[in-house]
Amino acid sequence: MEQKLFGTLTGGSPVWEFVLENQNFRVEVITYGGILKRYQAFGMDTVTGFDTLEGYLRDDTYQGALVGRVANRIKNGHFVLDGKGYQLALNSGEGRVHLHGGFMGFSRKNWEVVNILDNAVTLRTVSQDGDQHYPGTLTCDVTYSLGPDGLTIDYRAETDAPTPVNLTNHAYFNLDGCKGDSILDYVLWLGANRYSAVDEDVIPCDDPRVDGTIFDFRTPHTIGKYMEGFAGYDHNYFLDASIPSHANGMDIPLVATMENDKLKLSVYTDQPCIQLYIGNFLDRNNPTRGGIKQAPHTTVCLEAQILPDSVNRGKGILRPGEIYRQTTVYGFTKK
Ligand code: GAL
Repeated sequence: MEQKLFGTLTGGSPVWEFVLENQNFRVEVITYGGILKRYQAFGMDTVTGFDTLEGYLRDDTYQGALVGRVANRIKNGHFVLDGKGYQLALNSGEGRVHLHGGFMGFSRKNWEVVNILDNAVTLRTVSQDGDQHYPGTLTCDVTYSLGPDGLTIDYRAETDAPTPVNLTNHAYFNLDGCKGDSILDYVLWLGANRYSAVDEDVIPCDDPRVDGTIFDFRTPHTIGKYMEGFAGYDHNYFLDASIPSHANGMDIPLVATMENDKLKLSVYTDQPCIQLYIGNFLDRNNPTRGGIKQAPHTTVCLEAQILPDSVNRGKGILRPGEIYRQTTVYGFTKK
């Protein structure tokens, strides 16, 4: 495993980079944000990222980052847990919503390195009681490992007091080498019978069936097929039509595939939901690798997770003695 210094944060903390490589794949991970900085399949870039630490420090679109303590949105940034109310930072939705763990969520932490193997690296962040106003000290380990089918991301967390947890990775995929080309002609299959309808703050408020809507990807079709007059997908899907499958030596459901004439991405996860987001709010002023200006609809995020705002439905709570786990595989085959 190759390890090198990627940059240094103000205050002097080193940001390390790890390179995982096998016959078909190459993965670069950095300790800052636990970011998946680069993922090449069969010699092609498949996720966008920056060449420098400064790029990541400027970024507010969560490029490749590990997102937590609670990914996605929490309504009014507020929840009640065991009878006590908690007010989190309102860092999105014009100050009405808590998004992706807050101003200094896991995507902004410089993770510790706790284990290095030939084809795997485990990073840790310890989020103290009160961090971003969440209760309980949460210790969270994430392992990036490379296998014959591609990249596996394993998450594990433990807490000393009840707290909401929903971890994911926010990689932006492109199957044309990340040169800024549109994703609207990629063919997507998503094993979901239902999606989340959302309120004015993009908080799930209903779970309609996808039948007869532009959200139905059970029969594969291009992402752009029904997009006329539509700003773009940014929706939670319930993974209830996934396929029992096998990847990187594990039995893990296949939940989504996305392909063009070059590559096919297969997403496997043990999570109940996935957020399909096609980069509607990218930042053109912070060009990614190779100076590419990030236009909307040039990348796709498939963020495995539990239902957004679960904490306000009394779900997604981790308690002392329990272990939170999630496993997601982003595998590739060549066309
Ligand atoms: C996605 C979310 C989008 C946007 C994006 C970050 O996970 O669904 O609405 O907030 O993160 O820019």
